[in-house]
Amino acid sequence: MSIDLAVIGGSGLYQFPDLGNASRHAVDTPYGKASGDIVVGEFRGKRLAFLARHGEGHSLPPHRVNYRANVWALKSIGAGRVIGVNAVGGIRDDMGPRAVVVPDQLIDYTHGRLTSFCDVEGAEVRHIDFSDPYTPSLRKALVAAAAAAGIDVVDGGCYGATQGPRLETRAEIARMRRDGCDLVGMTGMPEAVLARELGLEYACLALVANWAAGVVDEDEISIEEIFAHLAAATAAVPAILAGLVDS
Ligand code: HPA
Repeated sequence: MSIDLAVIGGSGLYQFPDLGNASRHAVDTPYGKASGDIVVGEFRGKRLAFLARHGEGHSLPPHRVNYRANVWALKSIGAGRVIGVNAVGGIRDDMGPRAVVVPDQLIDYTHGRLTSFCDVEGAEVRHIDFSDPYTPSLRKALVAAAAAAGIDVVDGGCYGATQGPRLETRAEIARMRRDGCDLVGMTGMPEAVLARELGLEYACLALVANWAAGVVDEDEISIEEIFAHLAAATAAVPAILAGLVDS
């Protein structure tokens, strides 16, 4: 099957709206179960594959997502370009709640996750270039598509991937800021590197749900507010991706 675009939906995006003639695919992988069925359908006359990263009922926390199975499953059904949609906290001034950001760098603070397809017995050990963790041409196309849809999009920024599922302490965010992180999220890695290992084009569409811990003067971060901002930011996703499948 040939897939024009694959989308991995994060928190708040469990189904892709308006997929025509949709079919569900339960893909068996050598790495175990993906987060759920891949739904393939028509979007603006093109074929789009959608997978909910946390499962359709948000049953998988970030550290329990089988990133290898997800990425492998998408490749196996014919995906070549993948957009990871990720909820994030904002650190940089221009990345407040509801901002839409297409990052160009990342720093990985996660631990204990399976980060490579080389990690199985007998697999050939391959070292890959990861200087630019997101595919530059796909990133550019995504920024252009968002701008064409009239969305205020921030082009570039550094995504810091944390372990979760808890949010970070103020001190952790202060350290991440010193490290050069502009955004913080829990699911950006190892998804990006696994896509690279399989030779997929991959870019991240980051939706800011809240200011990260300690960035603004607030006693605590409201989880209800996170989901409200996320719902608003998520509403723009189909319009942004429309430009991408059209291009
Ligand atoms: N930290 C980590 N992940 C997140 C956040 C945050 O503040 N908000 C949404 N996802």
